[in-house]
Amino acid sequence: MKTILITGGAGFIGSHVVRRFVKKYPDYKIVNLDNLTYAGNLANLRDVENAPNYEFVKADITAGELMKALFKKYRFDGVIHLAAESHVDRSISSPMEFIFANIVGTVNLLNAARLIWDDFTGKRFYHISTDEVYGSLGATGFFYENTAYDPRSPYSASKASSDHLVRAYNHTYGLPTVISNCSNNYGPFQFPEKLIPLAIYNIKHSKLIPVYGKGENIRDWLYVEDHANAIDLIYHEGKIAETYNIGGHNEWKNIDLIHLLCEIMNRKLKRSAGTSENLITYVKDRAGHDLRYAIDSSKIQKELGWKPSLQFAEGLEKTVEWYLANEEWMKNVTSGDYQKYYDIQYNKR
Ligand code: NAD
Ligand code: DAU
Repeated sequence: MKTILITGGAGFIGSHVVRRFVKKYPDYKIVNLDNLTYAGNLANLRDVENAPNYEFVKADITAGELMKALFKKYRFDGVIHLAAESHVDRSISSPMEFIFANIVGTVNLLNAARLIWDDFTGKRFYHISTDEVYGSLGATGFFYENTAYDPRSPYSASKASSDHLVRAYNHTYGLPTVISNCSNNYGPFQFPEKLIPLAIYNIKHSKLIPVYGKGENIRDWLYVEDHANAIDLIYHEGKIAETYNIGGHNEWKNIDLIHLLCEIMNRKLKRSAGTSENLITYVKDRAGHDLRYAIDSSKIQKELGWKPSLQFAEGLEKTVEWYLANEEWMKNVTSGDYQKYYDIQYNKR
């Protein structure tokens, strides 16, 4: 039986990856390591928490000695590293947390793998990264695997640093690493600070939908299970020392996306046309707001046969249905500090 460490498995994307691996690979033992920040939630994994091949370990990747002790204890065969601080706005207000979790945390895992794995044969350290490391595009063009790094927010700079360190450990120590850089994910279990679940929550509760700047920024959206599928393929078939870009070829201006979401919400909540649209409110722009991201994913498509499975309209409809059907989940994650955080954010605008 192989033992795979998945970090950040209680978060949004990590929970989809853990669920997929636990169910699809009964001969793997999946160890989910997460310190349960505001974004980590064990309720995301209720359906697999009692599976015999699953174990949760509450631990912080910034604790270097603990990481080494866990590598010794579990003798991991592979690592899929997702744990990170992930929200750009929070990186603007509290950059240091991103430096510790995303850079120091990644180095601690790299060191544990380098020092505790006495033989790298058959091992794999897979680092999950973002398209934001490539910077911002103008009206045309795409990010390719060889696009020069140009991170522009504390979040993307911390992810870029961790990518560089992963490559450096491959080059210097021969650690068998692989990296993927993905575009914006959406789907069930995403914390409602990110645009899509935040807008769904606000529309549901007739609160304003904050649109940064003029709403003209463009993101390339991918359904989270399509990302989990790509991660599965890359973990098993990706080439060591390579990078794979993952994206939906699905670019949307924020304001157009919000209009589509409003239409779906009006229909699902049986509200008359225009009701949700009335909540759209233009607010002060995000500092240093990247204009456009667009991924060229032809490498993973050609080499590993991956492609996105869902059209955006279908994926968004499915996502809205999930949030409306899981009110209890939404209620739990929006209790406590959530309202306080948002009051502070919006008072600053
Ligand atoms: P998320 O914020 O939903 O989840 C992050 C998880 O990491 C949480 O469960 C949190 O508790 C855990 N975590 C944070 N700091 C930790 C620490 N110090 N020790 C242990 N656990 C810690 O994030 P997400 O959106 O699921 O993103 C997961 C990964 O994918 C991140 O590395 C992110 O950079 C990357 N990514 C995200 C997207 C996206 O659109 N969400 C796109 C591309 C890449
Ligand atoms: O591109 C991949 C990245 O996508 C990931 O690496 C990040 O972890 C993930 O958070 C996401 O970053 P973005 O900043 O693109 O996502 P967010 O949902 O925060 O914002 C999407 C767009 O919507 C962006 O242009 C900012 C805008 N926005 C966001 C919020 C939260 C608004 O206009 N209003 C909002 O309230």
